[in-house]
Amino acid sequence: MRIDGRDYRTIWLDADGRRVHVIDQTRLPHRFETIALDDLDAAARAIRDMIVRGAPLIGVTGAYGLALAAAADPRDAAILAAYETLLATRPTAVNLRWGLDRVRALLLATPEAGRAALAYAEAGRIAEEDVACCAAIGEHGAALIHAAAEKNPGRPVNILTHCNAGWLATVDWGTALAPIYKAARAGVPVHVWVDETRPRNQGASLTAFELLSEGVPHTVIADNAGGHLMQHGLVDLAIVGTDRTTRSGDVCNKIGTYLKALAAQDNGVPFYVALPSSTIDWRLSDGVRGIPIEERGAREVTHISGRTADGGVAEVQVTPEGSPARNWAFDVTPARYVTGLVTERGVCAASENGLKGLFPDLAG
Ligand code: MRU
Repeated sequence: MRIDGRDYRTIWLDADGRRVHVIDQTRLPHRFETIALDDLDAAARAIRDMIVRGAPLIGVTGAYGLALAAAADPRDAAILAAYETLLATRPTAVNLRWGLDRVRALLLATPEAGRAALAYAEAGRIAEEDVACCAAIGEHGAALIHAAAEKNPGRPVNILTHCNAGWLATVDWGTALAPIYKAARAGVPVHVWVDETRPRNQGASLTAFELLSEGVPHTVIADNAGGHLMQHGLVDLAIVGTDRTTRSGDVCNKIGTYLKALAAQDNGVPFYVALPSSTIDWRLSDGVRGIPIEERGAREVTHISGRTADGGVAEVQVTPEGSPARNWAFDVTPARYVTGLVTERGVCAASENGLKGLFPDLAG
């Protein structure tokens, strides 16, 4: 994607092919800064502290983290320890395990001398595959937006999204936002309702930043506004991303997604989830009971940060001193509330048969 006249991806290598660079997403939208990840610890910190975030990007960063570890020490014990360190950074997005498993399996089957080069090559392949998957998701999802536009000529298609499942959450394009970019670039008039996505405000800060940079009309709304908009016919469809989708089509995504899906069902609004196949956890069926939900620090709920009048960034407390807070980062939307899954191979029902139909080679 283009920022200030320059094309960026969210993760890339130095000219020497060893150092990993990422965009510091904790600074957006107020500052666009990049950070170099020099070693395993830096990669693990970047994921844990959400300098990088979004399921597919976490997976790619994990893969590069293992490459950085292999470059420092290619022995089995070091690779296995690095794998565990990276896996422990964030528990919910399954793409992290998927990316780490791919690189670890290759490394352990290779003589030590060749491991680092192989790990970088594999991490690079995972990144390229992610770009191709997201572009394909964009094409399949754009067809849904085209269809909605044909049903409602003369006005923009109103799309609601939650959190950030755009190019910042992947290597490029995004999942939920890719169809919007593809449709908008093809000339379909769209307007996006952007849930602010408390407590970390990925919608208000990251999705709004992306849509503004791409020139897509949008409006940031309070998290609780979606149901009201749907009741008044102001949402044609909802598209969100996911951190882990079970083989039966249960969808885990940013906290609050479930409530949007319930409101969508009540109002007959189609509710789509966009994902690459790396986000499917084929080992799990029951998302509500099986998916580990990350619980983050209470400070993300009790405090909020933003830009000050002098251009700095400051944090303020919104709760009374002494009120306890809890901070679950994700929830699970049962498959019955999902109209369809938009994948790199097309759109399918959120069900085991739907997923198996598109991915017979992966379903096992
Ligand atoms: O906590 P985050 O910001 O990593 O959560 C991100 C999301 O919930 C996204 O919707 C999901 O990872 C899909 S990203 C293409």
